[in-house]
Amino acid sequence: METVLDINITRVENSKLNDLNLENIPFGKYFSDHMLEAEYENGEWKNIEIKPYQPLIIQPSLAALHYGQSIFEGIKAYKDTNGEGYIFRPYDNFLRFNLSAERMCMPTVPEEIFMDGMKQLVAIDKNWIPFREDHSMYIRPLMFATDVLLGVRPSDTYKFMIILSPSGPYYTTPMKIYVEEKYTRSVKGGAGFSKNAGNYATSMIAAKEAREKGYDQVLWTDAIEHKWLQEVGMMNVMFIIDGVAVTPELSEGTILNGVTRNSVIVMLQEMGIEVQERRLNIDEVVEAYKKGLLQEVFGTGTAATIAPIQELGYGDLRMPFDVSSFKIATALRKQFDDIRYSRIPDTHGWMVKV
Ligand code: COI
Repeated sequence: METVLDINITRVENSKLNDLNLENIPFGKYFSDHMLEAEYENGEWKNIEIKPYQPLIIQPSLAALHYGQSIFEGIKAYKDTNGEGYIFRPYDNFLRFNLSAERMCMPTVPEEIFMDGMKQLVAIDKNWIPFREDHSMYIRPLMFATDVLLGVRPSDTYKFMIILSPSGPYYTTPMKIYVEEKYTRSVKGGAGFSKNAGNYATSMIAAKEAREKGYDQVLWTDAIEHKWLQEVGMMNVMFIIDGVAVTPELSEGTILNGVTRNSVIVMLQEMGIEVQERRLNIDEVVEAYKKGLLQEVFGTGTAATIAPIQELGYGDLRMPFDVSSFKIATALRKQFDDIRYSRIPDTHGWMVKV
């Protein structure tokens, strides 16, 4: 393994893996033996360590707890049939992580700490990568403010960490999604493009109310008219309308620039399917549905992968779909899985060996 970063490594004496069966595990519940930690102080990153996964000791006045300077990423690692470990498009997540950092007035993390640190950590815990369909090792890089002070200002100190969670699928059945018109996730000039903890905190009430109505998640709309579609809680959204793939555009900065979204766009174009990244109004979607032109709806995300949507709810209107007829989502999912599980050549250079 090629590495350039000098990391202080302390290994566990006994692996917890001996007590865990990696088959049929839920998403995000178990954590591997080791974690990476680095500290930012006086304008520089230092004390880069890989050490046994353990609790943090924090003060109640920790800035991140009060004012929310806290960001994260989600990435997945897989194993091939030879037992080699690969990470899916980590560099794209590295770039997005630092965009989130800048938006939240946090320092950026150098590429060698993020990338080499991640590769070294995953290599050390390679045995924790599940080798099973729909399973992977979910990699969670995070950064948070560590000043102990109640004044509202960007913290001077931060912690960057990476933890690893061998995981099964996030969603096990096709989803029911409610078009959200009451709450707002994101507005132009806001922080919708960044993966900051607060975006998830403010989204929970909408998801909770949607669940009370019988749905799994919401589809966010714009803050002004509640008509222009943004993204689904925890994933981007894609519609196949009369053979064309349509997905909300990134340019307003209100949605996440999803790595899976981008991978799907590339795969669709290679399949010869037209892709339109543009403003998309719920009225257009309803009209297409009523005319029988709305053929497929699915979400794309690291945790969710490519997730078919079996029902869209908009006010009192329920729009059910027969997901077994979703030819494009099914083909995309197959190709995506074949790449991630190394069953076909990785022609895009998406799989990074650890
Ligand atoms: C991801 O898809 O990686 C996410 O971050 C979604 C969620 C688990 C927070």
